Amino acid sequence: MSTILEVKNLKTYFRTPDGLVKAVDDISFKVEKGEILALVGESGCGKSVTVQTILGLIKVPPAKVEGEIYYKGKNLAGLSNKAYRDIRGKEISMIFQEPMSTFDPLFTIGYQLKEVARAHMPWDEGKTYEEIISILRRINIPEPEKRCKEYPHEMSGGMLQRIMIAMALITNPEIVIADEPTTALDVTIQAQVLNIMRELQGEFGSSIIFITHDLGVVAELADRVHVMYAGKIVEKAGVNELYSSPSHPYTKGLLNSRVMRSYKGKKLPYIEGYVPRAYEFPDGCRFNPRCPHVMEICREKDPPEFSLNASHSVACWLFDGRSET
Ligand SMILES: Nc1ncnc2c1ncn2[C@@H]1O[C@H](COP(=O)(O)OP(=O)(O)OP(=O)(O)O)[C@@H](O)[C@H]1O
Ligand SMILES: [Mg+2]
Repeated sequence: MSTILEVKNLKTYFRTPDGLVKAVDDISFKVEKGEILALVGESGCGKSVTVQTILGLIKVPPAKVEGEIYYKGKNLAGLSNKAYRDIRGKEISMIFQEPMSTFDPLFTIGYQLKEVARAHMPWDEGKTYEEIISILRRINIPEPEKRCKEYPHEMSGGMLQRIMIAMALITNPEIVIADEPTTALDVTIQAQVLNIMRELQGEFGSSIIFITHDLGVVAELADRVHVMYAGKIVEKAGVNELYSSPSHPYTKGLLNSRVMRSYKGKKLPYIEGYVPRAYEFPDGCRFNPRCPHVMEICREKDPPEFSLNASHSVACWLFDGRSET
Protein backbone atom coordinates (compact mmCIF):
# COMPACT_ATOMS: atom_id res chain seq x y z
CA MET A 1 0.00 0.00 0.00
CA SER A 2 1.14 3.51 -0.59
CA THR A 3 0.18 6.58 1.38
CA ILE A 4 -2.07 9.04 -0.44
CA LEU A 5 -2.61 11.50 2.40
CA GLU A 6 -0.52 12.19 5.45
CA VAL A 7 -1.58 14.59 8.17
CA LYS A 8 1.16 15.63 10.57
CA ASN A 9 0.68 17.46 13.87
CA LEU A 10 -2.48 19.15 12.65
CA LYS A 11 -4.01 21.77 14.93
CA THR A 12 -7.13 23.82 14.27
CA TYR A 13 -8.00 26.37 16.93
CA PHE A 14 -10.91 28.80 17.04
CA ARG A 15 -10.99 31.92 19.15
CA THR A 16 -14.48 32.28 20.64
CA PRO A 17 -15.99 34.59 23.26
CA ASP A 18 -15.81 31.69 25.72
CA GLY A 19 -12.15 31.02 25.10
CA LEU A 20 -9.83 29.21 22.73
CA VAL A 21 -11.45 26.13 21.21
CA LYS A 22 -8.84 23.51 20.38
CA ALA A 23 -11.13 21.63 18.01
CA VAL A 24 -8.30 19.58 16.52
CA ASP A 25 -5.23 19.41 18.68
CA ASP A 26 -2.10 17.86 17.28
CA ILE A 27 -3.31 14.87 15.34
CA SER A 28 -1.29 12.81 12.89
CA PHE A 29 -2.52 10.05 10.63
CA LYS A 30 -2.17 8.52 7.20
CA VAL A 31 -4.63 7.41 4.57
CA GLU A 32 -3.45 4.58 2.34
CA LYS A 33 -4.39 4.28 -1.29
CA GLY A 34 -7.65 2.38 -1.78
CA GLU A 35 -8.60 1.97 1.88
CA ILE A 36 -11.67 2.94 3.88
CA LEU A 37 -10.56 4.77 6.99
CA ALA A 38 -13.28 5.47 9.53
CA LEU A 39 -13.01 8.45 11.86
CA VAL A 40 -15.20 7.77 14.87
CA GLY A 41 -16.12 9.69 17.99
CA GLU A 42 -18.90 11.46 19.86
CA SER A 43 -20.42 14.70 18.74
CA GLY A 44 -18.04 17.66 19.01
CA CYS A 45 -14.80 15.65 19.10
CA GLY A 46 -13.43 17.34 15.99
CA LYS A 47 -14.21 14.94 13.14
CA SER A 48 -15.74 17.50 10.81
CA VAL A 49 -13.16 20.16 11.62
CA THR A 50 -10.42 17.63 10.77
CA VAL A 51 -11.73 17.00 7.27
CA GLN A 52 -12.69 20.64 6.75
CA THR A 53 -9.11 21.56 7.53
CA ILE A 54 -7.79 18.94 5.11
CA LEU A 55 -10.07 20.39 2.43
CA GLY A 56 -8.96 23.95 3.10
CA LEU A 57 -12.47 24.97 4.18
CA ILE A 58 -11.46 26.59 7.47
CA LYS A 59 -11.08 30.33 7.24
CA VAL A 60 -7.66 31.45 8.50
CA PRO A 61 -7.77 33.89 10.25
CA PRO A 62 -9.90 33.99 12.43
CA ALA A 63 -9.10 30.31 12.92
CA LYS A 64 -5.54 29.17 13.44
CA VAL A 65 -4.25 26.14 11.58
CA GLU A 66 -0.88 24.51 12.12
CA GLY A 67 0.73 21.35 10.83
CA GLU A 68 1.19 19.65 7.51
CA ILE A 69 -1.21 17.94 5.13
CA TYR A 70 0.67 15.97 2.51
CA TYR A 71 -1.41 14.92 -0.46
CA LYS A 72 0.63 12.79 -2.85
CA GLY A 73 3.70 14.17 -1.13
CA LYS A 74 2.74 17.83 -1.59
CA ASN A 75 1.91 19.97 1.45
CA LEU A 76 -1.58 21.45 1.09
CA ALA A 77 -1.33 23.55 4.25
CA GLY A 78 -1.15 27.20 3.31
CA LEU A 79 -2.18 26.63 -0.31
CA SER A 80 -4.06 29.52 -1.96
CA ASN A 81 -7.85 29.33 -2.23
CA LYS A 82 -7.62 28.92 -5.96
CA ALA A 83 -5.16 26.04 -5.77
CA TYR A 84 -7.40 24.38 -3.18
CA ARG A 85 -10.45 24.76 -5.40
CA ASP A 86 -8.69 22.73 -8.09
CA ILE A 87 -8.10 19.92 -5.62
CA ARG A 88 -11.53 19.95 -3.98
CA GLY A 89 -14.07 18.11 -6.06
CA LYS A 90 -11.46 16.83 -8.46
CA GLU A 91 -8.81 15.08 -6.37
CA ILE A 92 -10.67 14.97 -3.08
CA SER A 93 -14.45 14.99 -3.14
CA MET A 94 -17.09 14.98 -0.45
CA ILE A 95 -20.34 13.18 0.09
CA PHE A 96 -22.87 14.67 2.46
CA GLN A 97 -25.61 12.56 3.89
CA GLU A 98 -28.34 15.08 3.22
CA PRO A 99 -29.04 14.60 -0.48
CA MET A 100 -31.58 17.38 -0.49
CA SER A 101 -28.95 19.87 0.55
CA THR A 102 -26.54 18.65 -2.12
CA PHE A 103 -28.95 18.98 -5.03
CA ASP A 104 -30.56 22.10 -6.35
CA PRO A 105 -34.29 21.42 -6.66
CA LEU A 106 -34.53 23.66 -9.71
CA PHE A 107 -32.24 21.67 -12.00
CA THR A 108 -32.34 18.16 -13.42
CA ILE A 109 -30.01 15.50 -12.09
CA GLY A 110 -28.28 15.31 -15.47
CA TYR A 111 -27.62 19.04 -15.49
CA GLN A 112 -26.16 18.97 -12.00
CA LEU A 113 -23.85 16.07 -12.78
CA LYS A 114 -22.78 17.90 -15.94
CA GLU A 115 -21.90 21.04 -13.97
CA VAL A 116 -19.64 19.10 -11.61
CA ALA A 117 -17.88 17.39 -14.52
CA ARG A 118 -17.51 20.66 -16.41
CA ALA A 119 -15.84 22.38 -13.48
CA HIS A 120 -13.10 19.77 -13.28
CA MET A 121 -12.81 17.58 -16.35
CA PRO A 122 -11.52 18.46 -19.82
CA TRP A 123 -14.43 16.71 -21.57
CA ASP A 124 -16.59 18.07 -24.38
CA GLU A 125 -20.39 17.90 -24.19
CA GLY A 126 -20.66 14.44 -25.80
CA LYS A 127 -17.97 12.86 -23.65
CA THR A 128 -19.45 14.40 -20.50
CA TYR A 129 -22.84 12.86 -21.26
CA GLU A 130 -21.22 9.50 -21.98
CA GLU A 131 -19.34 9.59 -18.67
CA ILE A 132 -22.47 10.55 -16.72
CA ILE A 133 -24.46 7.69 -18.19
CA SER A 134 -21.59 5.32 -17.60
CA ILE A 135 -21.19 6.20 -13.94
CA LEU A 136 -24.93 5.97 -13.30
CA ARG A 137 -24.89 2.50 -14.88
CA ARG A 138 -21.94 1.47 -12.73
CA ILE A 139 -23.85 2.26 -9.59
CA ASN A 140 -26.87 0.34 -10.88
CA ILE A 141 -29.22 3.19 -11.60
CA PRO A 142 -31.85 1.79 -13.96
CA GLU A 143 -32.59 3.77 -17.13
CA PRO A 144 -29.91 6.39 -16.57
CA GLU A 145 -30.86 8.39 -19.68
CA LYS A 146 -34.36 8.86 -18.29
CA ARG A 147 -33.09 9.64 -14.77
CA CYS A 148 -30.91 12.41 -16.08
CA LYS A 149 -33.99 14.32 -17.16
CA GLU A 150 -35.61 14.07 -13.74
CA TYR A 151 -35.58 16.58 -10.89
CA PRO A 152 -34.40 15.68 -7.37
CA HIS A 153 -37.94 15.66 -5.93
CA GLU A 154 -38.95 12.99 -8.45
CA MET A 155 -36.54 10.53 -6.90
CA SER A 156 -36.57 8.41 -3.77
CA GLY A 157 -34.13 9.17 -0.98
CA GLY A 158 -32.15 6.01 -1.67
CA MET A 159 -31.85 6.86 -5.36
CA LEU A 160 -30.63 10.36 -4.55
CA GLN A 161 -28.03 8.93 -2.21
CA ARG A 162 -26.65 6.92 -5.08
CA ILE A 163 -26.73 9.84 -7.47
CA MET A 164 -24.80 11.79 -4.87
CA ILE A 165 -22.13 9.10 -4.87
CA ALA A 166 -22.05 9.31 -8.67
CA MET A 167 -21.53 13.04 -8.34
CA ALA A 168 -18.60 12.53 -5.99
CA LEU A 169 -17.05 9.89 -8.24
CA ILE A 170 -17.50 11.44 -11.67
CA THR A 171 -14.18 13.23 -11.44
CA ASN A 172 -12.51 9.96 -10.43
CA PRO A 173 -11.13 11.44 -7.21
CA GLU A 174 -8.27 9.91 -5.26
CA ILE A 175 -10.04 10.47 -1.96
CA VAL A 176 -13.73 10.59 -1.11
CA ILE A 177 -14.75 11.99 2.25
CA ALA A 178 -18.17 11.09 3.65
CA ASP A 179 -19.15 13.19 6.66
CA GLU A 180 -22.20 11.92 8.49
CA PRO A 181 -24.78 13.77 10.45
CA THR A 182 -25.22 12.55 14.00
CA THR A 183 -28.86 11.49 13.90
CA ALA A 184 -29.53 7.86 14.70
CA LEU A 185 -32.08 7.70 11.91
CA ASP A 186 -29.41 7.83 9.30
CA VAL A 187 -27.56 4.73 10.41
CA THR A 188 -29.14 2.46 7.78
CA ILE A 189 -28.50 5.02 5.10
CA GLN A 190 -24.90 5.28 6.22
CA ALA A 191 -24.57 1.52 5.88
CA GLN A 192 -26.14 1.62 2.41
CA VAL A 193 -23.78 4.32 1.30
CA LEU A 194 -20.80 2.44 2.64
CA ASN A 195 -21.93 -0.73 0.91
CA ILE A 196 -22.10 0.98 -2.43
CA MET A 197 -18.75 2.65 -1.84
CA ARG A 198 -17.27 -0.67 -0.87
CA GLU A 199 -18.56 -2.31 -4.05
CA LEU A 200 -17.20 0.47 -6.15
CA GLN A 201 -13.89 0.72 -4.45
CA GLY A 202 -12.17 -2.02 -6.38
CA GLU A 203 -13.27 -0.42 -9.60
CA PHE A 204 -12.40 3.16 -8.79
CA GLY A 205 -9.53 2.59 -6.38
CA SER A 206 -10.43 5.71 -4.39
CA SER A 207 -9.53 5.98 -0.74
CA ILE A 208 -12.43 6.81 1.55
CA ILE A 209 -12.49 8.71 4.81
CA PHE A 210 -15.76 7.88 6.48
CA ILE A 211 -16.89 9.90 9.47
CA THR A 212 -19.42 8.65 11.94
CA HIS A 213 -20.27 8.75 15.62
CA ASP A 214 -21.41 5.15 15.49
CA LEU A 215 -18.89 2.33 15.71
CA GLY A 216 -21.50 -0.20 14.62
CA VAL A 217 -21.80 1.26 11.15
CA VAL A 218 -18.17 0.74 10.31
CA ALA A 219 -17.72 -2.73 11.80
CA GLU A 220 -17.48 -4.73 8.62
CA LEU A 221 -16.89 -2.04 6.08
CA ALA A 222 -13.92 0.00 7.16
CA ASP A 223 -10.37 -1.27 6.84
CA ARG A 224 -9.01 0.82 9.68
CA VAL A 225 -10.57 2.94 12.39
CA HIS A 226 -9.27 6.03 14.17
CA VAL A 227 -11.10 6.96 17.34
CA MET A 228 -11.23 10.64 18.23
CA TYR A 229 -11.92 12.18 21.61
CA ALA A 230 -11.89 15.91 22.38
CA GLY A 231 -9.68 16.96 19.47
CA LYS A 232 -7.25 14.04 19.74
CA ILE A 233 -6.92 10.65 18.10
CA VAL A 234 -6.90 8.24 21.04
CA GLU A 235 -6.70 4.92 19.23
CA LYS A 236 -5.76 3.68 15.76
CA ALA A 237 -6.31 0.09 14.67
CA GLY A 238 -7.36 -2.25 11.91
CA VAL A 239 -11.09 -2.77 12.13
CA ASN A 240 -10.94 -6.40 13.34
CA GLU A 241 -8.38 -5.62 15.98
CA LEU A 242 -10.32 -2.62 17.21
CA TYR A 243 -13.34 -4.80 17.84
CA SER A 244 -11.46 -7.81 19.19
CA SER A 245 -9.04 -5.91 21.40
CA PRO A 246 -10.09 -2.34 21.97
CA SER A 247 -7.49 -0.74 24.21
CA HIS A 248 -8.35 2.83 25.07
CA PRO A 249 -10.95 3.05 27.85
CA TYR A 250 -12.89 5.46 25.65
CA THR A 251 -12.98 3.00 22.75
CA LYS A 252 -14.15 0.29 25.13
CA GLY A 253 -16.87 2.61 26.33
CA LEU A 254 -18.01 3.33 22.80
CA LEU A 255 -18.12 -0.37 21.97
CA ASN A 256 -20.04 -1.19 25.14
CA SER A 257 -22.51 1.52 24.38
CA ARG A 258 -23.24 -0.16 21.07
CA VAL A 259 -24.13 -3.37 22.82
CA MET A 260 -25.96 -1.70 25.66
CA ARG A 261 -28.08 0.54 23.55
CA SER A 262 -29.78 -2.43 22.02
CA TYR A 263 -30.28 -4.14 25.38
CA LYS A 264 -34.00 -4.89 25.68
CA GLY A 265 -34.69 -1.85 23.59
CA LYS A 266 -33.69 0.38 26.50
CA LYS A 267 -31.42 3.28 26.00
CA LEU A 268 -28.76 3.11 28.68
CA PRO A 269 -26.20 5.72 29.51
CA TYR A 270 -22.96 4.61 28.03
CA ILE A 271 -19.88 6.39 29.14
CA GLU A 272 -20.31 8.29 32.36
CA GLY A 273 -20.16 12.03 31.97
CA TYR A 274 -19.95 14.21 28.91
CA VAL A 275 -17.35 15.32 26.43
CA PRO A 276 -15.85 18.41 28.08
CA ARG A 277 -16.52 21.69 26.37
CA ALA A 278 -13.76 22.46 23.93
CA TYR A 279 -12.57 25.58 25.75
CA GLU A 280 -12.28 23.87 29.11
CA PHE A 281 -10.45 20.62 28.45
CA PRO A 282 -8.88 19.21 31.62
CA ASP A 283 -5.12 19.03 32.06
CA GLY A 284 -3.46 15.76 31.15
CA CYS A 285 -5.50 13.20 29.26
CA ARG A 286 -8.77 14.77 28.20
CA PHE A 287 -10.69 11.60 28.98
CA ASN A 288 -9.46 11.47 32.58
CA PRO A 289 -12.63 12.81 34.28
CA ARG A 290 -14.66 10.00 32.67
CA CYS A 291 -12.07 7.25 32.80
CA PRO A 292 -12.64 4.25 35.09
CA HIS A 293 -8.86 3.60 35.20
CA VAL A 294 -7.67 7.12 35.89
CA MET A 295 -4.23 7.41 37.51
CA GLU A 296 -2.28 10.34 38.90
CA ILE A 297 -0.25 10.86 35.72
CA CYS A 298 -3.45 11.04 33.62
CA ARG A 299 -4.39 14.29 35.38
CA GLU A 300 -0.95 15.78 34.79
CA LYS A 301 0.38 14.78 31.40
CA ASP A 302 -1.16 14.25 28.03
CA PRO A 303 -0.31 10.67 26.97
CA PRO A 304 1.78 10.13 23.85
CA GLU A 305 0.80 7.49 21.31
CA PHE A 306 2.05 4.06 22.42
CA SER A 307 2.49 1.36 19.83
CA LEU A 308 0.86 -2.04 20.53
CA ASN A 309 1.91 -3.47 17.18
CA ALA A 310 2.64 -2.19 13.67
CA SER A 311 -0.99 -1.29 13.02
CA HIS A 312 -2.39 -0.57 16.47
CA SER A 313 -1.59 2.34 18.73
CA VAL A 314 -3.22 3.97 21.70
CA ALA A 315 -2.77 7.29 23.49
CA CYS A 316 -3.26 6.12 27.09
CA TRP A 317 -0.96 5.96 30.13
CA LEU A 318 -2.11 2.39 30.88
CA PHE A 319 0.27 1.40 28.07
CA ASP A 320 3.24 3.34 29.39
CA GLY A 321 6.40 1.38 28.76
CA ARG A 322 5.53 0.41 25.21
CA SER A 323 7.45 2.16 22.49
CA GLU A 324 6.08 5.51 21.40
CA THR A 325 5.08 5.88 17.76
N1 LIG B 1 -16.20 27.77 13.19
C1 LIG B 1 -16.10 27.38 14.45
N2 LIG B 1 -15.89 28.28 15.44
C2 LIG B 1 -15.77 27.89 16.73
N3 LIG B 1 -15.85 26.61 17.14
C3 LIG B 1 -16.06 25.67 16.21
C4 LIG B 1 -16.20 26.00 14.82
N4 LIG B 1 -16.39 24.85 14.12
C5 LIG B 1 -16.37 23.86 15.04
N5 LIG B 1 -16.18 24.34 16.28
C6 LIG B 1 -16.08 23.56 17.53
O1 LIG B 1 -15.07 22.59 17.34
C7 LIG B 1 -15.41 21.38 18.02
C8 LIG B 1 -15.36 20.22 17.05
O2 LIG B 1 -16.44 20.35 16.15
P1 LIG B 1 -16.74 19.31 14.97
O3 LIG B 1 -17.82 19.89 14.15
O4 LIG B 1 -15.48 18.95 14.27
O5 LIG B 1 -17.26 18.03 15.76
P2 LIG B 1 -17.75 16.63 15.16
O6 LIG B 1 -16.86 15.58 15.74
O7 LIG B 1 -17.82 16.71 13.69
O8 LIG B 1 -19.19 16.49 15.80
P3 LIG B 1 -20.57 15.91 15.17
O9 LIG B 1 -20.48 14.43 15.35
O10 LIG B 1 -21.62 16.53 16.01
O11 LIG B 1 -20.64 16.33 13.73
C9 LIG B 1 -16.76 21.63 18.65
O12 LIG B 1 -16.55 22.00 19.98
C10 LIG B 1 -17.33 22.78 17.85
O13 LIG B 1 -18.22 23.54 18.63
MG1 LIG C 1 -19.39 16.63 12.32
